[in-house]
Amino acid sequence: MKKLLVLPGDGIGPEIVTEALKVLDKVKEKFGLSVSVDEALLGGAAIDATGNPLPAETLDKAMSADALLMGAVGGPKWDHLETSKRPEKGLLGLRSSLNLFANLRPAILYPQLASASTLKPDVVSGLDILIVRELTGGIYFGEPRGIRTLENGERQGYNTYVYSESEIRRIGRVAFEAARKRGGRVCSVDKSNVLEVTVLWREIMEEVAKKYPDVELEHMYVDNAAMQLVRAPRQFDVMVTGNMFGDILSDCAAMLTGSIGMLPSASLDADNKGLYEPVHGSAPDIAGQGVANPLATILSLAMLLRYSFAEAEAAVAIEQAVSKVLDAGLRTADIWSDGLQKVSTQAMGDAVAAAI
Ligand code: NAD
Ligand code: IPM
Ligand code: MN
Repeated sequence: MKKLLVLPGDGIGPEIVTEALKVLDKVKEKFGLSVSVDEALLGGAAIDATGNPLPAETLDKAMSADALLMGAVGGPKWDHLETSKRPEKGLLGLRSSLNLFANLRPAILYPQLASASTLKPDVVSGLDILIVRELTGGIYFGEPRGIRTLENGERQGYNTYVYSESEIRRIGRVAFEAARKRGGRVCSVDKSNVLEVTVLWREIMEEVAKKYPDVELEHMYVDNAAMQLVRAPRQFDVMVTGNMFGDILSDCAAMLTGSIGMLPSASLDADNKGLYEPVHGSAPDIAGQGVANPLATILSLAMLLRYSFAEAEAAVAIEQAVSKVLDAGLRTADIWSDGLQKVSTQAMGDAVAAAI
């Protein structure tokens, strides 16, 4: 029996996770999977109930689970809190405590959505990029950090951008291993024309590349990478980058696929234990309306079954079910256009489950 821990979180989180669990029930039945499901509080929901965005009980349950499925955390209700007490800190604490250093964010365009992208169909059709984002280091976790008062009485905010060789090496290996199974190309994204930390990043990527003679390594500055993602995104196979650049570039890549509501992610440790979540956030502007796109979360469940439960067949069944539903013309508001059927979060989840 595999243990799955579900963390619905805030905003649209509970709505989209409900739909993913419907799909899980269906694949359990169809493929005879033995998965137990438990639930825990994270983020704003946990702050409201316990005062802590990552309660000890949640961390305990997370440690003993085989995989985690999350909705999203955060929202205006908690925006006034200081950084260390915010919902987002709960998620960051979970990633760090579980050592989930490898964040895989595949940006794949379903052909049915070519016209939903804001870019021309001939720019995005056939898009299949994997962003490998380092997730437990970099400026997100570097010390010292804070807001201090200078001698002249002015306040100064500061963070520290650090990466050690071992942190760069291990995420580099993840990217090269992934590239080997895909198009054989890695583009490492940095800012080594300005930042020493990424001078080291580039050097270590070169070192890792020597062990993968079959994989081609290219380097790109992050500003150019952002531009190239919009100009000619299909030039990329695997992109590997640090925590903050990866955060920004993956939202950008999401839009190439039609909507941020389409992008799943896996955050893995060295043994493929993982936390799976959509790339998007808690979307407070549409929460509670039943209009959010649940497909990113449903596709995150597919990644969970593939990477953490080694149930590739069930994962493929989910991905094919999503494709069938798109073929049938069903669209949530974010990917809808004239002539297609606009459906609710719930109806989209029902349709995917029915298509399994
Ligand atoms: P967001 O991703 O929540 O929303 C950005 C825009 O995309 C909004 O207009 C939203 O309605 C839309 N959107 C997002 N997901 C959608 C979906 N599934 N279907 C349809 N539309 C969708 O980003 P934001 O507004 O910058 O952040 C809102 C909150 O979420 C903040 O508190 C932020 O910290 C948090 N956040 C959490 C995560 C996470 O939990 N992993 C990720 C990003 C942001
Ligand atoms: C993401 C989110 C998180 C991040 C926030 C909510 C901490 O934006 O998962 O992309 O910046 O990593
Ligand atoms: Mn993000």
